[in-house]
Amino acid sequence: MPEDCVVSTPAEEVFKLVGGMSTAAIITTAAKLRLADAVGEEPADARDLAETLGLDADVLTRLLRALVAFGVFRQVRPGVYEHTERSRAMRSDAKERLLDRLLTGTDFSWRSWGMLPDAVRTGRCPFPDGFGTDFFAYLDRHPDAQSRMFRGITASFDPLLPLIADALDIAGARSLADVGGGKGTLLRLLLEREPHLRGVLFESESTLRLADEQLRSGPLASRCDLVAGDFFQQITCDVDVYLFKLTLHMYDDEDCERILRNCAAAAQPGARIVIADPLLTDPPRSPFAPTMDLHMLLLMGGRERTAEGYQALVARSGLRMKAVTPLPRSTSLELAIVEAVV
Ligand SMILES: C[S@@+](CC[C@H](N)C(=O)[O-])C[C@H]1O[C@@H](n2cnc3c(N)ncnc32)[C@H](O)[C@@H]1O
Repeated sequence: MPEDCVVSTPAEEVFKLVGGMSTAAIITTAAKLRLADAVGEEPADARDLAETLGLDADVLTRLLRALVAFGVFRQVRPGVYEHTERSRAMRSDAKERLLDRLLTGTDFSWRSWGMLPDAVRTGRCPFPDGFGTDFFAYLDRHPDAQSRMFRGITASFDPLLPLIADALDIAGARSLADVGGGKGTLLRLLLEREPHLRGVLFESESTLRLADEQLRSGPLASRCDLVAGDFFQQITCDVDVYLFKLTLHMYDDEDCERILRNCAAAAQPGARIVIADPLLTDPPRSPFAPTMDLHMLLLMGGRERTAEGYQALVARSGLRMKAVTPLPRSTSLELAIVEAVV
């Protein structure tokens, strides 16, 4: 029966949502196996693909058939497949870096989502019980998972950097620190845009080693300091603007308060603290922020926040709230800029 003839009832619709689990397994398996790279411009025989990739020919054919049902590859004749636009998007040389996004959490996401019932029962992050260690120690021990995660996050969020940079009101600021700024990609963009600005990339020692070459020794290096530190202990830079992008949502309110108080202790009165994180709304506008909220809980005990949640966090950290501004929606990733003053 064609898909459009299937009767849709509320029960069917909910049951269909759970099918997302098997769909995700089918697509991420194709991503892990780099199937899209293995198929060239000519139609490919599943048996040849299996031999090249060292896979079981029968099960690969069954996987390809399932992928065809989702519009990833087209069947030319039984056992022979060619690219579609969707499968081309999964190639490692595709412009949108979908492959990196698909592989973001393939190591730990399945197991951690399986622990959601535990989290709802206990109210706690289930990661340490399930994995025997906290998330950051897990990443330290699994550098491949760590680098896949970083590649995935940058592939997902880098396209938003110009939007974030546009939304940041840094005219008049002489100095800005990106706290937990990762490789410094956003800082680099801001320094390129604002020739008078001095920058600080404040990061843990291990991540600082991965800092963007342009900040390390390129033309921007003379306007940028790379500062190693632990924001739970002390933030050691005195600047006009402190930026936290996709960092505070990793932590609960107590940890965020510690970080923000350390920030305020380093800053002059009037300095600005800018947070760029997802924004929860009640009721939700889309599944993105509430899903991220649970994901942060499952991995690190973190959370996303509503405008009221940010207001409360800012107040308990002894700061003054200035504004919460949702970024214009250009993708499914909904972020907001939260500004507070020391
Ligand atoms: C989710 S990443 C966000 C990175 C970057 N802001 C971005 O948006 O791509 C969080 C960052 O916080 C850094 N970090 C974690 N704990 C830290 C600590 N205690 N002190 C300083 N940086 C820390 C990590 O190294 C990581 O780069």
